[in-house]
Amino acid sequence: MDTELNYNYKIVRQFTIATVVWGVVGMLVGVFIAAQLAWPELNFDIPWLTYGRLRPLHTNAVIFAFGICGLFATSYYVVQRTCQVRLFSDKLAAFTFWGWQAVLVAAAITLPMGLTRGKEYAELEWPITILIAMVWIVYAVVFFGTLVRRKVQHIYVANWFFGGYIIAVALLHIVNGASMPALPWKSYSAYSGVQDAMIQWWYGHNAVGFILTAGYLGMVYYFIPKQAERPIYSYRLSIVHFWALIFTYMWAGPHHLHYTALPDWTQSIGMVFSLILLAPSWGGMINGVMTLSGAWHKLRSDPILKFLIVSLSFYGMATFEGSMMSIKTINSLSHYTDWGIAHVHSGALGWVGFITIGSLYYLIPRLAGKKEMWSIHLIDTHFWVATIGVVLYIASMWIAGVMQGLMWRAVNADGTLTYTFAEGVKATYPYYVIRFSGGLLYLSGMLVMAYNTFMTMRDSVPADGRIPTLRTVPAAPAAVAARS
Ligand code: HEM
Ligand code: HEM
Repeated sequence: MDTELNYNYKIVRQFTIATVVWGVVGMLVGVFIAAQLAWPELNFDIPWLTYGRLRPLHTNAVIFAFGICGLFATSYYVVQRTCQVRLFSDKLAAFTFWGWQAVLVAAAITLPMGLTRGKEYAELEWPITILIAMVWIVYAVVFFGTLVRRKVQHIYVANWFFGGYIIAVALLHIVNGASMPALPWKSYSAYSGVQDAMIQWWYGHNAVGFILTAGYLGMVYYFIPKQAERPIYSYRLSIVHFWALIFTYMWAGPHHLHYTALPDWTQSIGMVFSLILLAPSWGGMINGVMTLSGAWHKLRSDPILKFLIVSLSFYGMATFEGSMMSIKTINSLSHYTDWGIAHVHSGALGWVGFITIGSLYYLIPRLAGKKEMWSIHLIDTHFWVATIGVVLYIASMWIAGVMQGLMWRAVNADGTLTYTFAEGVKATYPYYVIRFSGGLLYLSGMLVMAYNTFMTMRDSVPADGRIPTLRTVPAAPAAVAARS
């Protein structure tokens, strides 16, 4: 087999399997910390198992392990298929896989040990931060190197989203990661006070915008047209969507710092840009959903399409909610409460989780040289179990969040607080139990997926991914999606 004539599917396969495995691990930790919130004795008085250490382990495992491995897998697949050329370098691509797994293992060891920079979603200490930067730069070389060598003139829109995500994450990571090492596993941020907070939430919000959104929109623009066998509803809208989204996201970070020492005008800018952000977000959602025009009936029988389309409805919901929560008066109720956790997980479980899962169900059989997954029935089971899981999770946290906000602000006629904080905690208990059961269902769905993936790949002869011989360069972008 002449590898130059074939796509590099090995790297896509490795990242795909890693996504499923890390998904199970990250969500298992999520379920465990959800249980700890309901039953704190599950700390077992062991420092490694305390909530404060396991919570960042959960967020790192789901975002950087499950989330980013999924983005590696799909971006490497899509860039090859739509550029009709093999990845720029197999060796560099392999470095990104093993380098990234090293980052994740280092995170899984150091976070439970309590080694942390103390910045949310940027907890990893400086030696790991440097390794992340190295892997990321090589990722950019492989991705953009492949784009440069493309055999198709047009750069398909999914690659714009993947490319935007790769560049933005490099920028965010390097700026927010700047710190002064003091010891081998201890460093101090290069910024101080309110500047440090502003940089951190510029990073934090754009991690949402570019990892948890732009990267996954890359999946939307490739896998939905492919699975629905329909061209994108409006290619023009997809380009407007891209530029509007990346421009607007960069300014919205201050909505994480309402009513803090940050200057008031900065908070207001964050709020205004967050409201504007609803337009490109919904534009993209509508473009994705309308791609199904004329093929709605497929939703009845195709569970992969169900995952992909329902993910967009959660995307629409989470972005609407986010824009509302950015309004300062609403934020004064929602901030610090479980409403925020509901918002995060309608995005994380409903949007990020579902679009990744749907895209992987499309990919896995193709990587295994099979026509379809081992069991379509199990994909359907996964869909329903996961959907019920998300609904239980977010509905319980919405109710808990609004209740907490209202209890905390209730005052008696004489100005004293109506409720003690402990009364709020007690009232939240049943909702924590419901959230735990929702999480357990979502995790069970991931286990079903892991089993189905194993059975599909078990006796497979890996697909060689032959690159089609091009005689003419396709003019219309939709043709690129259809051919690749
Ligand atoms: C079985 C599924 C999951 C369960 C049971 C779960 C549970 C939890 C729990 C209990 C927390 C802490 C909440 C708190 O401190 O009050 C949390 C936080 C978080 N989780 Fe999950 N999670 C799950 C899946 C995911 C996934 C797939 C993602 C991302 C793709 C995710 C992203 C996050 C983030 C970003 C936070 C921090 C939120 C914040 O600080 O506002 N989770 N999760
Ligand atoms: C138009 C789009 C969006 C806007 C305007 C927005 C806005 C917000 C706001 C106002 C908060 C609460 C800040 C606070 O009170 O501390 C928040 C938190 C959060 N949002 Fe969104 N959101 C959007 C979309 C999304 C999506 C699609 C996700 C995907 C998972 C997401 C993930 C998060 C996370 C992880 C946090 C918690 C950050 C933390 O405190 O740790 N958001 N968002």
